[in-house]
Amino acid sequence: MGKVLITQSIDDEVLQQLSAHCAVETLQSGSFCDALPDEQLLGCTGLICFLTDAVTAALVQRMENLEFVSSVSVGLDHIDLPALNARGIPVGHTPGVLVDATADLAMALLLAAARRVVEGDRFVRAGCWCPENHWSPDFFLGRNISGATLGIVGLGAIGQAVARRAAAFNMDLIGWTPSGRVVPGVQGVSLEELLVRSDCVSLHVALTDATRNLIDAARINSMKPGAVLINTARGEIVDEQALAQALDGGQLFAAGLDVFASEPLSPESPLLRHPRVVLTPHIGSATAATRAQMLALAMSNAVAALQGRRMPHCANARVYDRAPSG
Ligand code: DGY
Repeated sequence: MGKVLITQSIDDEVLQQLSAHCAVETLQSGSFCDALPDEQLLGCTGLICFLTDAVTAALVQRMENLEFVSSVSVGLDHIDLPALNARGIPVGHTPGVLVDATADLAMALLLAAARRVVEGDRFVRAGCWCPENHWSPDFFLGRNISGATLGIVGLGAIGQAVARRAAAFNMDLIGWTPSGRVVPGVQGVSLEELLVRSDCVSLHVALTDATRNLIDAARINSMKPGAVLINTARGEIVDEQALAQALDGGQLFAAGLDVFASEPLSPESPLLRHPRVVLTPHIGSATAATRAQMLALAMSNAVAALQGRRMPHCANARVYDRAPSG
């Protein structure tokens, strides 16, 4: 077994545990890319990567000795899975452990956006809150959460965790999911109906060719006037220009966004100029406990591969069923 490449430094203790199984090379954060020299890639039989590392088909081709990939993420849209499938290389990921943290952040963004929490904070800090505008009946009015209809787009584990939280806030729940899954307590509707009826919409589908630009200009324009859009899934699911226009035009009330089509968000993004867009830097899974669990799952995937076992959380487990070639 050759070396395992890790694309960012990780906890020392975890690194030591992994080193008991293989030689390890740790890269500087952000340096894993197509430009890495051949000698660094050729000696590598395992890759442990993060969601910011683009594992392209070209890179996979150059990693001739690659035997496994373990990503410290649940989403795998940064990885060219067909290229790895074609070589029969298992790809591990971290489902389950970030469900609650991500659902919590979706609720935090929903509450913050609908009740103008961040805008209010900026207002107070800027010294704008003064005796002349101390309080009035229409001061900083937001939107009701209790009694509002929440449309959940994607009813996988995270969508369902959001549904449980929103039910406790007395929201009416409707949902749509590409698989047609039925979830108790959530009325299943078409995506079109969901957008027309929802006071708040929260996105929880994985990014695939079918969901890229799912919430496009036409769908944004079909949303209920004054609605709030929350995205903790992937930025490319939403047409950001159309979203900014709908906010500027007053058609949508607010948005809470943790993910963006291009990350980090460009200073030129029109989303930055709207006061009722609450922005966070892709931190859905960012609690210490959740990140530790994600790393532990990624390590268990890597160690299984190093020991010639099936990864416990493999995204393309069908590669194990194929007869070894040649
Ligand atoms: C993932 O793991 O895909 C998440 O986006 C990380 O927060």
